[in-house]
Amino acid sequence: GAPVEADVGKLAAGEMMTVEWRGKPVWILRRTPEMLAALEAHEQRLADAASEEPQQPGYASNRHRSINPEYLVVIGICTHLGCSPSEKFSPGAASGMGDDWPGGFLCPCHGSIFDLAGRVFLSQPAPTNLEVPPYKWLADTLVRIG
Ligand code: FES
Repeated sequence: GAPVEADVGKLAAGEMMTVEWRGKPVWILRRTPEMLAALEAHEQRLADAASEEPQQPGYASNRHRSINPEYLVVIGICTHLGCSPSEKFSPGAASGMGDDWPGGFLCPCHGSIFDLAGRVFLSQPAPTNLEVPPYKWLADTLVRIG
């Protein structure tokens, strides 16, 4: 499939957009400083906090799992059986994690929970973190995926 370009210039902090690449939804989330800070708080509860999965691009093997910490670029498909997780940015009972829930993504099919870097929590049906696609920044707010 051809690469796609996304202009994130209109994305406000905390907002997410979806672009399609190779028939898959790619999420681009512009994280706030609070969202980035929250990534540190729960790492002992993650299955693979450093994202050491070998099939990930090298720039995904860090806490924020991205080239520019501000922007998460991740494929919005659950690594369990391929459902599409929903955005769960705020704390809420729906996550089953109460006030400990720092925001992230929740898969409706079997309840896998991911953080705001797409990292899966321990003991979830999903075996790995959400997949980071190959991408590169062409300019400050222009990213090419693929
Ligand atoms: Fe997402 Fe099963 S497909 S938890």
